[in-house]
Amino acid sequence: MSDVLNIGVFIPIGNNGWLISETAPQYKPTFELNKEIVLKAEQYGFDFALSMIKLRGFGGKTQFWDYNLESFTLMAGLAAVTSRIKLFGTAATLTMPPAIVARMVSTIDSISNGRFGLNVVTGWQRPEYSQMGLWPGDDYFSRRYDFLSEYVQILRELWETGASDLKGEFFQMDDCRVLPKPQANIEVICAGQSNAGLAFTAKWADYNFCFGKGVNTPTAFAPITERLQAETAKTGRDVSSYVLFMIIADETDEAAFAKWDLYKSGADQEALAWLTEQSAADTRSGSDTNVRHMSNPTSAVNLNMATLVGSYESVARMLDEVATVPGTGGVLLTFDDFVKGVEDFGWRIQPLMKSRRHIFASLQEVV
Ligand SMILES: Cc1cc2nc3c(=O)[nH]c(=O)nc-3n(C[C@H](O)[C@H](O)[C@H](O)COP(=O)(O)O)c2cc1C
Repeated sequence: MSDVLNIGVFIPIGNNGWLISETAPQYKPTFELNKEIVLKAEQYGFDFALSMIKLRGFGGKTQFWDYNLESFTLMAGLAAVTSRIKLFGTAATLTMPPAIVARMVSTIDSISNGRFGLNVVTGWQRPEYSQMGLWPGDDYFSRRYDFLSEYVQILRELWETGASDLKGEFFQMDDCRVLPKPQANIEVICAGQSNAGLAFTAKWADYNFCFGKGVNTPTAFAPITERLQAETAKTGRDVSSYVLFMIIADETDEAAFAKWDLYKSGADQEALAWLTEQSAADTRSGSDTNVRHMSNPTSAVNLNMATLVGSYESVARMLDEVATVPGTGGVLLTFDDFVKGVEDFGWRIQPLMKSRRHIFASLQEVV
């Protein structure tokens, strides 16, 4: 039997999704757009949808990510209009105390009837936080996962027992209470890729999400799964890897590559310059910040996320290859055009995938 791949959609909570380009589709994020995408994803058997949190855009001609909705409030709205798909929101942990986030999660757990989970981020782009006086100083770059460990410990205590009295370096709880407890076990995602981020994930999270690498190199992410597995061998916990991919698909390989070339030709250089500057912000030698690699020019136009370009058949074959890497739980997909992309994935790509046979069979029964 072939390996099974879970599929998620990384919904466009910010303008223009993940393409920093003047020649890619230009759009603003709205509830209606995200609702249309998530309802379609649910219909096609996607397993989950995730929204990020981004508090400062990159500017440039496309005003990249200058327009962003807020993750929890968007997911609360989506929870009310969906019924099967799992939803994950993202907490910018520097901006919200854990007891507030625990209560927001319980609320969306109630709205969604147990379909909500949480992505926790330490934050890597200083101006997102310094613009509102919430950047703790550059020492935070090296302490960020110590901070996050206390944070998630408090969340887990509150969800499991309804109370926390944790006295830590960053947080002092004083018989803190949060009820109701969520009805479901709340699953936690961490997308850390530094050594500290992976060690944190192995200890406290349920899933690690990674960027992947390159164009049409679907298994190039394998080394990060190996690093995660080395960490989980120490903690004895079961944590799987999920890989972020952008899908650019069309009837033929040539047509898909023509779109990819078009998007690259319109790269918004001003917005990309901002990204390069931000990802090099942690300048201390020997520091363990992974984001600096994002300034790599290979495919900066989509934040260097792994990209699969080709016909529906080619993309299906490459996604099946992803499923063969040990420790892989699934993929998180972005598209150049999300509405068409989710539809094409649902009916053109998914039926060709061995790793999605289980879903397609059940969809046909419903239809
Ligand atoms: C799928 C995915 C989602 C992410 N979501 C966010 C987000 O919402 N906000 C954010 O500031 N960073 C986000 N990140 C960045 C990570 O949280 C993390 O900081 C980055 O991968 C660098 O790893 P490191 O912190 O271990 O250096 C995301 C990364 C990935 C791969």
